[in-house]
Amino acid sequence: MSRHMAGQAPKTRGSRRVNLVEVSATKLMPIIAARVGGCVSLGQGVPSFATPPHIVDAVSRTLREDPASGKYSLQPGMPALRKAIASVLDREKGLRYSPESEIAVTVGAMEALLCAILAFVDRGDEVILPAPCYASHIEQVQLAEGVPVFASLRRADWSLDAEAVRRAITPRTKAIVLCSPGNPTGTVFDEADMAAVCELAMAHDLLVISDETYDYVTYGRPMPTSPATYPGMRERSVVINSFSKKYALTGWRVGYMAAAEPLMADLLKIHDASAICAPTPAQHAALAALSGPQDVVDDMRQALERRRDLCCRRLDELRDYFDYVAPGGAFYIMARYKFSDAPSMEVATRLIEEARVITIPGGSFGPGGEGHLRLSFGGEESEIEEAFARIGRWVKAKA
Ligand SMILES: Cc1ncc(COP(=O)(O)O)c(C=O)c1O
Repeated sequence: MSRHMAGQAPKTRGSRRVNLVEVSATKLMPIIAARVGGCVSLGQGVPSFATPPHIVDAVSRTLREDPASGKYSLQPGMPALRKAIASVLDREKGLRYSPESEIAVTVGAMEALLCAILAFVDRGDEVILPAPCYASHIEQVQLAEGVPVFASLRRADWSLDAEAVRRAITPRTKAIVLCSPGNPTGTVFDEADMAAVCELAMAHDLLVISDETYDYVTYGRPMPTSPATYPGMRERSVVINSFSKKYALTGWRVGYMAAAEPLMADLLKIHDASAICAPTPAQHAALAALSGPQDVVDDMRQALERRRDLCCRRLDELRDYFDYVAPGGAFYIMARYKFSDAPSMEVATRLIEEARVITIPGGSFGPGGEGHLRLSFGGEESEIEEAFARIGRWVKAKA
């Protein structure tokens, strides 16, 4: 009997669907930490930066001057914003999408991902997730009553293993979710591996859902190529992106999806049924972000690179206790702990209770993640320093 069913009257019992999903550990660990108190965080993936002032000013002005800014927008989003997104996709990735019929603004990348899964995955359909992967990719497939099928990333460097993806394909496979740079590994997929997976998608007539949330934050390498740019892929891709991290807009809840018109027609049905439209003030924020100065993004990327280097240095000092693969993008490191055989949930919980440091158990990111802790370096350098000082004292006291 599931945890929801015990003691509940039949009519208020959770659905079969809801019983298949869990609140992700990324959200759970800060709740445990709030109970314990006094914690510093390497947990949730939120960069410390405040929303840039020019974005706040533009939205405040618009809210004061334009009464329409407090109302619903058109269902796929404000035309000016869709146009701005179309030109970014063209300029940065060489992707041509019609702003009128192939781009929709969503409530963060999260809603776009859910639209893609609910629009194309039926009960029992299999969705391939290169893993470790973003926990919500798993939960969303389960919410649709689909079956997540994990294709392990290569353990040596968390790179995309096209052979593992090929082995995971069955007649029930419907889609592959790709995310580069990845959460929780920070891997930027190799062009050749990505091309090989796209070939598989074409050969087996699969949809590719490309989560490009972290495309702007790579270290010493170019923005990864979108799978939708490979020959023959446009018609079978849903490209998803977010304004959350790139422009320090996590709380505003705005992202987008781009897909060929027949796919978009289905995506928009889910968007309409779930959200009507993305929040209009947040859409104005996204428009101000795209039309304003981009040096704010460069500054944040540089700060994240310094934090990555700091995190790697501190992990190197603890090499007797952890090893890791240096991330090529995003702001996460999967640190493999060598000091315990306990499950990652137990280790992460003890770190909160005994060392007052929040990390995310690697096991929550699918197979391959167990035995690791995901460390986010979105926080200020002082917080990262303090977290490592506490972890260092804790592991040494245990040893
Ligand atoms: C890989 C990935 N996709 C999507 C999201 C959600 O982004 P948004 O805030 O735009 O919904 C996150 C947030 O952490 C993420 O890590």
